[in-house]
Amino acid sequence: MSEPEASVATGPETEALQKRFTAAIMPNYGVPPAALIRGAGCRVWDADGREYTDLIAGIATSSLGHAHPAITAAVSHQVSLIAHTSNLFLHEREVELAERLLGLLSADQTRADGRVFFANSGAEANEAALKLVRRMQGPARPVIVAAENGFHGRTMGALALTGKASIREPFGPFGVRVRFVPFGDTDALRGAVDTGVAAVFLEPCLGEGGVVPAPEGYLRAAREACDQVGALLVVDEIQSAIGRSGTWFAHRAHGVRPDVLTLAKGLGGGLPIGACIGLGRCGTGFAKGDHGSTFGGNPVACAAALAVLDTIERDGLLANVTAVGARLAAGISAVSHPLLAGVRGRGLWLAAVLIRPEAPAVEAAARRAGFLVNAVQPDAIRLAPPLILTAGEAEEFLAALPAILDDGASGGTNPPALRHGGLPPPVPPGLPEGATR
Ligand SMILES: Cc1ncc(COP(=O)(O)O)c(C=O)c1O
Repeated sequence: MSEPEASVATGPETEALQKRFTAAIMPNYGVPPAALIRGAGCRVWDADGREYTDLIAGIATSSLGHAHPAITAAVSHQVSLIAHTSNLFLHEREVELAERLLGLLSADQTRADGRVFFANSGAEANEAALKLVRRMQGPARPVIVAAENGFHGRTMGALALTGKASIREPFGPFGVRVRFVPFGDTDALRGAVDTGVAAVFLEPCLGEGGVVPAPEGYLRAAREACDQVGALLVVDEIQSAIGRSGTWFAHRAHGVRPDVLTLAKGLGGGLPIGACIGLGRCGTGFAKGDHGSTFGGNPVACAAALAVLDTIERDGLLANVTAVGARLAAGISAVSHPLLAGVRGRGLWLAAVLIRPEAPAVEAAARRAGFLVNAVQPDAIRLAPPLILTAGEAEEFLAALPAILDDGASGGTNPPALRHGGLPPPVPPGLPEGATR
């Protein structure tokens, strides 16, 4: 896509920005349909003053919504102290965050049962995991097993593991031998894991693949298959962790303990951070000098992540995710519409599944109605809102859903939303009056 979608009504400010974007930014993303300039909670505003309810949270990332006071305070405070140290020096925030994550994983630190490497993104966390696996398993085990339709990132190692041929194949060959198996097929997984396998990389629920949960017993079977041959189990929780499905980590519901766990997205609440957590002997698999990152675990991102963890705990957000997510899922499945096949997922991580591959039209229709959602697959609309979504905000979307589906199915006839009559959003505390971006 090199031009904005024809069905997307944009305003003059958005159009002007889209033109500049096209001229200055590489064309890999296409031209995004809206230019966001402000957020507050689960609401965001575009350059033309339109207000939206954000039900995608920057791809399952802005876990506390936008301009959350806890993140604003933590980041501002940290920047005022020290913003960057590099890995030449330590700082307390990274140690504290690693301790908190290990505590949430119930790793017994008195037995040095886990260690964390901090990166800046999901792909980087998976690159670290891949390197750790190589380091620990050596050249006698050259194969990695991963899932068809799985997604692990766009850098060369993470891309090699990504089970979508259309995004992977143009960039091969890779320096990693990957054996892909159909996601959810336990027998195929068992059959693929032999003594040449260094590790199995799996998401507990396909995120980019369309919010497809692993069937009951699948991750346990992966754990067993790995244990039988001495392979490592790497669980990619970059999209699923930090409360997204109502628990800190999605793998918990499957009763398995991975050897390596990767995190990113919601951990930083919008600040870039990734983590590769090695449990047991994987915690100490890297020797000094084996891996590194200049920015990884920088104080500002760590401060934001600590604010995310604190706020989830203090405000009972895991319970909110479970309750509001259940209401959203029940409400979607109660909608009777010829385009809607059903809903899948858990917590605030759902896909409304369509009968026909019309998700891009429905995504555009939702935007016209004032809701940001994501056509994650041709037939699936992903909802991954901030974990602070209220029951009232969920009800607003459910009330609008039949009309959104009508609009999507008919190719778009509704006018774009202009809530608040186009008035600019309130200026958050601390920003100079009149500041808009
Ligand atoms: C499961 C999973 N792994 C890895 C990634 C890559 O993360 P990033 O885009 O931060 O590199 C993503 C991103 O969507 C993801 O969903």
